[in-house]
Amino acid sequence: MPAERWLITGASGQLGSHVVRLLAGDDAHPAVFALTGRQDAGTPGVSAQRVDLADHEALRACVAAFRPTHVVHLGALTAVGACHSRPADAEQINTGATRVLAEASDAIGARLVFSSTDMVFDGEHAPYSETDEPHPLSHYGRTKVAAERTLVGLAHTLVVRMPLLYGLPRNGRETTFTSQLAALRSGQPLRLFTDEFRTPVWLADAARAVMGLTRSDLTGLIHLAGPQRLSRYELVAECARLLGLEHPQLVQISRLALAATEPRPADLSLDGRRFAALFPHLVPGPLRAEVLSPV
Ligand SMILES: NC(=O)c1ccc[n+]([C@@H]2O[C@H](COP(=O)([O-])OP(=O)(O)OC[C@H]3O[C@@H](n4cnc5c(N)ncnc54)[C@H](OP(=O)(O)O)[C@@H]3O)[C@@H](O)[C@H]2O)c1
Repeated sequence: MPAERWLITGASGQLGSHVVRLLAGDDAHPAVFALTGRQDAGTPGVSAQRVDLADHEALRACVAAFRPTHVVHLGALTAVGACHSRPADAEQINTGATRVLAEASDAIGARLVFSSTDMVFDGEHAPYSETDEPHPLSHYGRTKVAAERTLVGLAHTLVVRMPLLYGLPRNGRETTFTSQLAALRSGQPLRLFTDEFRTPVWLADAARAVMGLTRSDLTGLIHLAGPQRLSRYELVAECARLLGLEHPQLVQISRLALAATEPRPADLSLDGRRFAALFPHLVPGPLRAEVLSPV
C-alpha cells in the first residue's frame, strides 16, 4: 500500500492544531502538508504553507503538487459575525474552497473529509439526525450547507457535522474557551446563555474522530456529538466545578437579551447514534478534568 500523504487545511485552527499533532506522532508516519491562513501551524517537523482559501488557483496548485491520499478540510471563516459582515468572502472561503478541494481530490482519487457544523440547523427541532433537513439561521450556516451540497455524490468523500468544540488548542492560541478559563481562574464575571444548547465535544476527542473517519471508507454524511446536552452556562459552570472553584462569578443571561444581527439557534443538539454504532471506539467522552489541561 502506498504511504499516506495527508493535506490538512485550517492546520493553525483549534481543531487543526490537534489533528496535525496527532498526525505528527502517528505510527504510520504519514507525510503531512499543513495549510494555514495568516498564522503558522506551529507543529515541529510538519511542513506548512500559508494559502488563502479564497485563492482557488493556489489551492488547486497545492493539491496538484503534493498529491495527497487524504485531505482533511478544516479551514473556514468560522466567526459567525465575520461571515455576516463579509458575506462574499465567507462564500469564497467556506463554499468555494470546499468545491475546489472536492474537485481536485476527486480528480486524483484522494479521500476528502469536510468539517461542517451543527449550525446548518435552526435550533427548533433538536436533536438532529443525518436525515433532518438543514435550515440555517446564519450566513455562516448557509455557506456550510452550500459547501456540503458541492460534495453530494462524490466518491471517497465524507461530511462530518461537528457540534460546539471546547478545550485547549495545541498551538497556544487564544480562543473563547481559553478566555473563559482565564476569567474563571481570576474571578472575573462571565455572562453566559442558559437557553442555548449544544452537544459539545472536546477538541482532542474530535481530532481522534476526524482521523478515524478519514481512514474509514464511510461516505456521505455523519454527525459527531458529545454525550451531554449542555447550555453555554452549564458548560462553563461544570468547568468551574472541575477546577474546584467554589464561587465562580457566573451571570445567567438569555440569548434573546442580546442584540444580534442574526438569530441565535436555541438547541443545536446533534444525534450521535449513527456515529456510535459505526465507530464505538471513537465515541467522544463527557466533559472531564483532563480537558482543562494541555494535552
Ligand atoms: N470550533 C467549533 O466549535 C466548531 C463547531 C462546529 C464546526 N466547526 C468546524 O470545524 C472546523 C475547524 O474549526 P476550528 O474551531 O478549528 O476553526 P478555527 O479555530 O476558527 O480555525 C480556522 C482555520 O481556518 C483557517 N482559515 C480561515 N480563513 C482562511 C483563509 N481565508 N485562508 C486560509 N485559511 C483560513 C485559519 O487560519 P489562520 O488562523 O492561520 O488564519 C484556521 O487555521 C471548521 O470548518 C468549522 O466550521 C467548528
